[in-house]
Amino acid sequence: MAQGMKLLFCSGLAVALIGVNVMSAFPGKSHSGGKDDPVLQYVVNNSLREHPVLAKLKQRTLEDRWNIMLVATEQAQFMGNLMKLIKANKTLEVGMYTGYNALNMALSIPENGRVVACEIENAYVDIARPFFKEAGVESKIDVRIQPAMQTLDELIAAGEAGTYDFIFIDADKNNYDGYYERSLQLVRKGGIIAIDNVLWSGLVVNPAADDLVSQNLDALNKKLHKDERIDLSMLTIGDGLTLAFKR
Ligand SMILES: C[S@@+](CC[C@H](N)C(=O)[O-])C[C@H]1O[C@@H](n2cnc3c(N)ncnc32)[C@H](O)[C@@H]1O
Ligand SMILES: *[C@@H]1O[C@H](CO)[C@@H](O)[C@H](O)[C@H]1NC(C)=O
Ligand SMILES: *[C@@H]1O[C@H](CO)[C@@H](O)[C@H](O)[C@H]1NC(C)=O
Repeated sequence: MAQGMKLLFCSGLAVALIGVNVMSAFPGKSHSGGKDDPVLQYVVNNSLREHPVLAKLKQRTLEDRWNIMLVATEQAQFMGNLMKLIKANKTLEVGMYTGYNALNMALSIPENGRVVACEIENAYVDIARPFFKEAGVESKIDVRIQPAMQTLDELIAAGEAGTYDFIFIDADKNNYDGYYERSLQLVRKGGIIAIDNVLWSGLVVNPAADDLVSQNLDALNKKLHKDERIDLSMLTIGDGLTLAFKR
């Protein structure tokens, strides 16, 4: 995949483009922007309880040049706790990368639960699979290697609307609105749609005229603020996480 395209999927571009003032508004992920933030490191040092296979997968992922895409571990743990709180069983991830959060989801749901994980890059799925196996949850994780929009449409066509408990949206940012609308169909009442990177390193506050990703994320944030179909929280964890609770 072209380097320019990849940049659309992660906050690397944002980090490269903005100055210290915006960055200091919130630390970001503990493995990238927040690496040198003592308070965030304190939080991680005193609350992260990483499954040993998740810790190994994180180490493997940090060897990849696109590791800025890796979900913040502290955010993954929070989402795992949310899944347990709502007794999530059927879950979905849009944008799996090397599988850190897909594995985290599989470890947070019951034995007969299921994770549908959408990804387009075979190479990332190849990194993920041995870790799913090692953790003994490979049968829970159904990886669909094709554009996520197609997978979501297929799930809706298969009659799975209203059956998902928890959905994590974390793929190509310019398609977020389409992912959100389909997720809203797939999730049950009281289920949660978690949307990653909604602050885009702070660039959404004042998107540049040529920065389509920040403009699209800002438009989606403003749309959700008025969306009567959901209850809503926007958290400053990681690169910004919106939680939409379906009414
Ligand atoms: C930010 S990363 C996901 C991080 C992951 N959730 C984790 O736990 O570390 C985004 C991923 O979405 C994938 N992606 C990009 N466009 C996609 C598409 N149209 N359909 C499915 N996956 C896509 C990228 O290849 C990349 O691996
Ligand atoms: C966090 O833990 C690391 C590794 O043990 C240590 O080097 C660092 O000083 C700790 N930072 C804080 C703020 O607790
Ligand atoms: C959990 O999901 C599995 C697979 O989709 C399903 O067979 C099972 O009945 C579900 N269990 C509960 C408690 O909803």
